[in-house]
Amino acid sequence: MDHSNYVIDPLISAKAIAARVEELAAEITETFKGTDKLIVIGLLRGSFVFIADLVRELDLPVEVDFLETSSYGNSMESSREVRILKDLRGEIEGRDILVVEDIVDTGHTLHHVLNLLKSRNPRRMEVCALLDKPSRREVDVKATWVGFEIPDKFVVGYGIDYAQRNRNLPHIGVVRFTDRDDESES
Ligand code: IMP
Ligand code: MG
Repeated sequence: MDHSNYVIDPLISAKAIAARVEELAAEITETFKGTDKLIVIGLLRGSFVFIADLVRELDLPVEVDFLETSSYGNSMESSREVRILKDLRGEIEGRDILVVEDIVDTGHTLHHVLNLLKSRNPRRMEVCALLDKPSRREVDVKATWVGFEIPDKFVVGYGIDYAQRNRNLPHIGVVRFTDRDDESES
């Protein structure tokens, strides 16, 4: 599929996101109160806007690190493989860590990442996902905090892309294709 014509229908406003980020940050701050250092780990690239806003609302000593994964589906199998494209720069053994994800969809990415990070023996590991599509879940994985539950729609904006585009949209919207009459394949 290569759709070029689409519009973006508004789903979550920039104002609503900012208000929710504040609430999440307050809960995270409370949960990790007293920590010597919280390592906030963003999953690239979709979480980069969210993590930037979130860390600025945290009233804790914070370090930021990033992990990049790439997942690809095999149409012959229901299981998905997740590859690590870029690993963390720092150690997390014995540390408090917060994993920040843009969207939990089937759950394969988060499941894989959490298993990997857990094997490095952090003291405490929690997860904050901006969006959750519970109806799409294939593996049982849960974020500690979720910004918004959304329906099974393809969304963009606030760091989230469609074919690398629309990451800079300040709000979150649903992609709606408008080129219905030239679908030769599908
Ligand atoms: P999962 O492994 O199926 O949970 O995939 C999660 C990843 O798929 C997210 O981190 C996103 O990068 C991507 N993804 C899932 N849903 C969407 C969407 O609606 N828009 C853009 N990317 C998405
Ligand atoms: Mg992602």
